[in-house]
Amino acid sequence: MIPFNRASLEGAEIAYLVQAVNNGFISGNGPFTKQAEKALSEMHDGAAALLTTSCTHALEMSARLLDLQPGDEVIVPSYTFVSTASAFIWNGARPVFADSRPDTLNIDPDHVERLITPRTRAICIVHYAGVGADPDRFSALAEHHGLALIEDNAHGLGGSFNGQTLGTFGAMSTLSFHETKNITCGEGGALVINDPRLIERAEILREKGTDRSRFLRGQVDKYTWVDIGSSWVLSDLLAAVLVGQLERFDAIQDRRIRLWERYDAELAGWARDVGAELPVTPEGTTHTGHMYFVRFPEGSQRDAFIAHMRDNDIMAVFHYQALHESPVGRSLGEQEDCPVASAAARRLVRLPLFTDMSDSDQAAVIAAATSFSGR
Ligand SMILES: Cc1ncc(COP(=O)(O)O)c(C=O)c1O
Repeated sequence: MIPFNRASLEGAEIAYLVQAVNNGFISGNGPFTKQAEKALSEMHDGAAALLTTSCTHALEMSARLLDLQPGDEVIVPSYTFVSTASAFIWNGARPVFADSRPDTLNIDPDHVERLITPRTRAICIVHYAGVGADPDRFSALAEHHGLALIEDNAHGLGGSFNGQTLGTFGAMSTLSFHETKNITCGEGGALVINDPRLIERAEILREKGTDRSRFLRGQVDKYTWVDIGSSWVLSDLLAAVLVGQLERFDAIQDRRIRLWERYDAELAGWARDVGAELPVTPEGTTHTGHMYFVRFPEGSQRDAFIAHMRDNDIMAVFHYQALHESPVGRSLGEQEDCPVASAAARRLVRLPLFTDMSDSDQAAVIAAATSFSGR
């Protein structure tokens, strides 16, 4: 069976893990954490980067840093992972769902603009598949209306929009190192903080609401409880694995982009014949090779395609459900329709794409896909 995803831990990851054990420093904020945070900061033009236990928790931290109040609204895409919305619910706000653009499936700025009300406090965008979600336009929109912009950058590490690194547009951005992401430590994430006024409180929130980080730096002589935070620090064991991945980041990205480009070249004729749509990368966007997807005209064709690939020992999988149609989404009061998100949920399938995928496995996926007649 060709899997949909397999983590590639073939560099120094295991050696660093052993080193972390031998260091005797396996909780958070140890030497590997500092090394990973430095590398991530450099990848984000010097912004502060705090490792967290997941992207979900980084989103929850970002929401907490906004001091949301009951009645506040945060505009999020409907077509995203649940955490993009649930983080704001945990912090007392109501997510308002915006539809996607039909070309990239990124959150639609025109719809977002129509959804802004006096209750809106923030916009959280997702760079779907690592393709920039027009962050310039969202920055301008946020500034014009006095809103915070958050980038859920779970797919977009290393991508750019008009030459600017994804994750550096909003006040904060979040990363995921879950095993399905380009680089991974199993479970993990980071909060990247572009607004320096938020750094000190972010450190406190991540350390259970204490000023322990200041204590460790010798800035205070004892640490105490100063805010309501949680336990969002990543273990140095996982940070060690992440350092091994970060060292190989360029090679990982190159390989994934090569796999992505081969799919794009070799599926084009078949996609035209069966009326399927392949990913769109608008002018000015540099994507991350995070995933390759196909959209069929009908959901029934997508389902038949997944079964066809399974019959050929290949795992192809669908992606998000449209959150406004989920049980929790429906419980959040009246929301506008998001027809593009609903259609993507029914019609989209992702093909296997992982760093260690061999050329011959990819050839097998392409051969199986192009033998699907569209029914
Ligand atoms: C857009 C997006 N945001 C957030 C997450 C959550 O990431 P994590 O598993 O690191 O919490 C995911 C996970 O797939 C995601 O796709």
